[in-house]
Amino acid sequence: MAARAARIPPCPFPRFYPPCTSFASSFHIHQFPASHLPCSRFQASPLKYFRQGTHRGLSTWGSPTGAVPDVERKATLVERQGATRAIESILKPQSDYARYNMIVGNHGTGKTTLVCHVGHQLDGILYVNISPNSVSDKTFAEEFAKAFHWTPATRFWHDMLLSYWGISAGEVADDRAILVEVFKEFDNQAKVFKKNKGRSPVLVLDNINRLAEANPKLLNILQDMAKDAADDGLFITVFVTSRSASSRLGKVVEIGDMNHDEAIDFLCNKRAISESVAEDIYSLVGGRVGLLVTAVNELDSGQDFAGVRELLLGDARRVLRKGGMEQGGQFREAGIQIANHIFQHGRISWYDFYRISGSTSQGDQLLSLNIFTTAPRSEWVFFDTKPMEITVRALVENASD
Ligand SMILES: Nc1ncnc2c1ncn2[C@@H]1O[C@H](COP(=O)(O)OP(=O)(O)OP(=O)(O)O)[C@@H](O)[C@H]1O
Ligand SMILES: [Mg+2]
Repeated sequence: MAARAARIPPCPFPRFYPPCTSFASSFHIHQFPASHLPCSRFQASPLKYFRQGTHRGLSTWGSPTGAVPDVERKATLVERQGATRAIESILKPQSDYARYNMIVGNHGTGKTTLVCHVGHQLDGILYVNISPNSVSDKTFAEEFAKAFHWTPATRFWHDMLLSYWGISAGEVADDRAILVEVFKEFDNQAKVFKKNKGRSPVLVLDNINRLAEANPKLLNILQDMAKDAADDGLFITVFVTSRSASSRLGKVVEIGDMNHDEAIDFLCNKRAISESVAEDIYSLVGGRVGLLVTAVNELDSGQDFAGVRELLLGDARRVLRKGGMEQGGQFREAGIQIANHIFQHGRISWYDFYRISGSTSQGDQLLSLNIFTTAPRSEWVFFDTKPMEITVRALVENASD
């Protein structure tokens, strides 16, 4: 184990599950100091930042099915049996399951679609999508509250009262305290669900990678919450993310690209593309379903195949230019060497990737540029997408002319 740890460079991504930091490790939703609550000075009549929605106790997420938003354009969905079964297994945990889980895969591999498709048919699942607009403590809390139909109460009278006391709302409004209020209510609802159903509800947090970049403190809090809730058997958390790896987890389900048959099934049977064009599209984008959708949408809007190809390869060229792999760029030499290794062997080990990059920080930087990618719990690095592979191949051939 020690030898392995010495050989493998550190995880290239922002650490998704860092060791507990001082604040995060002390965070327990039921232990938050009263002084941090929104209006500890008005204990006799605590002010509500949120009021209960129309569904008291078990709100719609508790029963029956259908609380997770269903996928649009269901008729165009390709069945992915293996991935669907894997997702079912973590959305329907055994009653004594006491860990939290992660669904991971590159952008556009179909994670959200599968989670929503499966989750919509089950009960006891709360789905929260972390959009770019919901990464602050407050906006996340609001999104979370909305997901279980707990709507923000007007703060008008609250702010009026504060101004009566000569305090501006901003001075006391503690965004993290709003989060605590929401967690407390969720805790209560989870207890009711568990009592009635004899199993733990599941909290799905989609696009959690957005917090790693924009609000790592909140991510720490959520990880600790997930761990505590699992230990207490209260609820199971499932993080959905487009990157990262960890060791403090239960199951990690990886959603990869579609295989050839699934991709051709999607193109021919769900989107009415002819077989020969379907093969052309597959050789251009591989089985990344998000790119298959983009290609078909372009064709549907009147673009010919050559135009679609140029569009996708042009995008990849821009990524390469930005990532310093053009003539004179920061990663030109290392990038070409790594690419040649992948062309020869189909992949490159982390060890060789970091060795060629020159240092851990340079390797981290190169890996963050969307040229190369890695899989969770894997020691291998690949090209991020098929169009990227095609574009890099052209660059390498030009470089050797
Ligand atoms: N099984 C499927 N059949 C047909 N289309 C699919 C399937 N899964 C996903 N798609 C389509 O592929 C596109 C990308 O899917 P989705 O948004 O679920 O990917 P994702 O992995 O969640 O991406 P991101 O990491 O960017 O959030 C969407 O347009 C979606 O409708
Ligand atoms: Mg998604």
